[in-house]
Amino acid sequence: MDMAGKTVLITGSTDGVGRYVASELAKQGAYVLIHGRDAARAKTLIAEITRGGHAAPTFYQADLSSLASARQLAAAVSADHRKLDVFISNAGIGSMNGGAERRASADGHELRFAVNYLSGFLLAHLLLPLLKAAAPARIVNVASLGQHPIDFDDLMITKNYSGSRAYAQSKLAQIMFTIDLAAELKGAGVTVNSLHPATYMNTTMVRAGGITPVSTVEQGGAAILHLATGDDVAGKSGLFFNGMNEARANPQAYDEDARKRLRKLSLDLVGLAG
Ligand SMILES: NC(=O)c1ccc[n+]([C@@H]2O[C@H](COP(=O)([O-])OP(=O)(O)OC[C@H]3O[C@@H](n4cnc5c(N)ncnc54)[C@H](OP(=O)(O)O)[C@@H]3O)[C@@H](O)[C@H]2O)c1
Repeated sequence: MDMAGKTVLITGSTDGVGRYVASELAKQGAYVLIHGRDAARAKTLIAEITRGGHAAPTFYQADLSSLASARQLAAAVSADHRKLDVFISNAGIGSMNGGAERRASADGHELRFAVNYLSGFLLAHLLLPLLKAAAPARIVNVASLGQHPIDFDDLMITKNYSGSRAYAQSKLAQIMFTIDLAAELKGAGVTVNSLHPATYMNTTMVRAGGITPVSTVEQGGAAILHLATGDDVAGKSGLFFNGMNEARANPQAYDEDARKRLRKLSLDLVGLAG
């Protein structure tokens, strides 16, 4: 896809692989909407991009551990733009960021589920009118190979909590949502795919886990850019990729009843039911 003049929103683009993807898309001529919590980090990225002679991105500040803040982000983007060509839902916290213990979001939900999944679920729904207006448009959900089946009797993991289980549950939820949303959007001109960008890239969340990185943000970024802009994936939807290649996710992703259950619970949790 020729990205010149295209509008792209990337959540979590003040750091890590999202930051890299934002820079690359700006180099390709896209008008990039960057997002994060930290205005100073955003300012540095904007300066870097404009120094390279590319269109200045707009920064949207929002803490995705609050659904109200996610709603404000969608409202701000919708107020500024009539169309959105690509939405990359990338913001996330790892299994160790801020400690591995269980924490709750502003809305009382398990924090990793809230930031990594629920906020992206809500944003995708609220941004659909803009994406449909730009058709053909794309949604890319940045998930992971780290996937743990959802225990519907304890969605918020009040028992046997671990940061890695919570992270992996949130990542599988993103993949299940991707498959559902693709079915819902059939014929609407908006595709949605998810991916594991690369294993243990050299980013804040990996370093926070004390893990020695084995991949670069360039490697993971290339996989995200492939789904966001690649001609070979135009029209493809509801798929999971491991890097550049289509792959199978955890079996629960292909359980239609489990997806239906998750979808209903999610709509309730974000206040979109009915
Ligand atoms: N690193 C890996 O090896 C790897 C592997 C598989 C999948 N992934 C996925 O790739 C994505 C990006 O990860 P990364 O490794 O690039 O992580 P990172 O360097 O830690 O960056 C995370 C980004 O998300 C933002 N973010 C975190 N919590 C937020 C919140 N509450 N509200 C708003 N923004 C928030 C951060 O913003 P601030 O600047 O405000 O902190 C930052 O921009 C994640 O979805 C992750 O699960 C990563």
